[in-house]
Amino acid sequence: MDSESYDINLGNKDTETRKKASEDFISFWDEQAKKLSWFTPWEKTLDWNPPFAKWFVGGVLNASYNALDRHQSTKAEKPAILWEGENGDSKTLTYKDLFFQVKKFSNVLKSLGIQKGDRITIYLPMVPELPISMLACARIGATHTVVFSGFSSSSLKDRIIDSKSKIVITADGGFRRGSVVKLKEVVDDAIQGLDFVKNVILLERTKTPVNLNSKDKWWHDLMKDSSPDCEPEKLSSTHPLYILYTSGTTGKPKGVLHGTGGYLTHLQSTYKWAFDIKDSDVFFCTADIGWVTGHSYVVYGPLLHGATEVMYEGSPDFPDISRMWDIIQKYKVTIFYTTPTALRMFMKFGDEIPNSFDLSTLRLLGTVGEPINPEVWKWYYKIIGKEKCPIIDTWWQTETGGMILSPLPGLESILLKPGSATYPIPGVDMAIVNEDGKEVPPNNKGYLIIRNPWPGMLLTLWGDDEKYKSVYWSKYENAYYTGDYAIKDQDGYFWLLGRADDVLKVAGHRIGTAELESSIVSHSDVAEAAVCGIPHDVKGEAIIAFVVLKEGIKKNEETLRTEIVKEIRSGVGPIATPEQLYFVSRLPKTRSGKIMRRLLKAIAKNEKIGDVSTLEDGAAVSEVQSAFDELQKSFAKNKKN
Ligand code: PRX
Repeated sequence: MDSESYDINLGNKDTETRKKASEDFISFWDEQAKKLSWFTPWEKTLDWNPPFAKWFVGGVLNASYNALDRHQSTKAEKPAILWEGENGDSKTLTYKDLFFQVKKFSNVLKSLGIQKGDRITIYLPMVPELPISMLACARIGATHTVVFSGFSSSSLKDRIIDSKSKIVITADGGFRRGSVVKLKEVVDDAIQGLDFVKNVILLERTKTPVNLNSKDKWWHDLMKDSSPDCEPEKLSSTHPLYILYTSGTTGKPKGVLHGTGGYLTHLQSTYKWAFDIKDSDVFFCTADIGWVTGHSYVVYGPLLHGATEVMYEGSPDFPDISRMWDIIQKYKVTIFYTTPTALRMFMKFGDEIPNSFDLSTLRLLGTVGEPINPEVWKWYYKIIGKEKCPIIDTWWQTETGGMILSPLPGLESILLKPGSATYPIPGVDMAIVNEDGKEVPPNNKGYLIIRNPWPGMLLTLWGDDEKYKSVYWSKYENAYYTGDYAIKDQDGYFWLLGRADDVLKVAGHRIGTAELESSIVSHSDVAEAAVCGIPHDVKGEAIIAFVVLKEGIKKNEETLRTEIVKEIRSGVGPIATPEQLYFVSRLPKTRSGKIMRRLLKAIAKNEKIGDVSTLEDGAAVSEVQSAFDELQKSFAKNKKN
């Protein structure tokens, strides 16, 4: 932990908010929720039937109304989205334009028979039609489920089946690093045999030739004659706004379900507190909308505030590593929110590139998704922020809906420590505990938990209340288990140390080890597989796979390796491609069959196992040692080949 601190504040010195929140978090959130527009006020602020929270019970509202309608009298001509295509195309959508398109598309969905409560899968690249689709779903009360356009057809299929989506919205293709990803083909593959999918709406983006099937309808044809009048559906506060699938410790991804009133209240507040948003700002969050950061801080957060934001279609290093700085200069970006992985990549190319751009409009910088190393934090601060911009290191999860730990320069002044996400937001009570749930002393590592409900929290896991209870609320009594390790220092600052469970964070993407392993064993020659993450200087963590082949497989190892990698890419997606893949004769396991991932890590990093007596899985020392020796032997043999 770095002992340096930085005093960069933006002049906001509110102390009342925190005080009120700590006295009574329920009435505190009650006040915050009033900043949204409601058709009918709520009767009860929180109905807490642990672990199920219902926020603003009886309240009636609409997310698209809050993002669009309420700005029309004051901000109709203000740019909402400054869109930059990967190939240099650009487009500006004002609040009026966005409103118009959303209402028309809402009517398109209705004309295809979509009703309140139906689910719609969206598999689009980063084009304005993606937020338009989401807001149209929200307007008519359909629940959207956006799938990152880098996921494979089988991942997409799993999500369409689990959500029972009636419609899939996609494009002919998407641009990625100058080439075209044929999204329509992926969708065709995914929906084969799924009768409940009634239509595929197809946006023309790349003009890639496609095979049209009976379910397919072109976006532009449907929009041509669609009416621009569509009243927002009046929805209860707990109405499901979206499902977003995320990896966990089990083989199948979990459908995190978010509601409306609580979720939007969380974003309305955190977007203001963290980013200090002003009417004159140009906000740029680099996240893909396929992940939660994009949902919360590309779509809902900025639009709730009537902010102007840049949305970029492509890869941050295309056509070269200066693309982000070029965009900041071009659009005069004032607030920039990105990931430690992107920053590590930019930093590797030196200071000269960012120094050759005019970044003087920047006034606030943020990061999200993984721990940020202090060196990178300082580089960001000095080279990008020119020592005048606060850096907000924001910790949160798909499940939390919005930020939970972050400096809040839009609210208060705070000393920043490079690498620390500082404190929980007002109204959230967090602690670091040991295995037994007891708080650990300052500067000791433990599990990060949340001790009270918060408005952005997930409603449940889609269709699986029991799993929701067991994954998040069973490890500790009356506390939400985050799955992360952390430390709280002597000043109360939180330092995040990565996942404590079987989840990897590769380039900020969350990948479940079980999901990966099951895609590897789907190769017919594989008997067993185990994966682990090891530190990587750009991606934060890289995937290492250990594979045990079935008896008698005589195939060339290189061929097998290529085939297995292909299996992973089509099973999960290219983001899950392992850095290294080793064939071993046996996997180290405890007597209960749990894979000893710590051993795998030690082997891959060429380290000693360390103190085996503290192995959390309770395996016998001799058993661990012999498994380690055996694995090391077969690993060494494999490496030689
Ligand atoms: O391990 C933590 C890490 O990302 C996990 C959540 O991943 P996901 O649901 O994909 O959401 C990412 C974007 C909000 C967390 O459990 N994480 C997120 N932010 C940080 C972080 N780790 C350290 N520092 C952060 N600022």
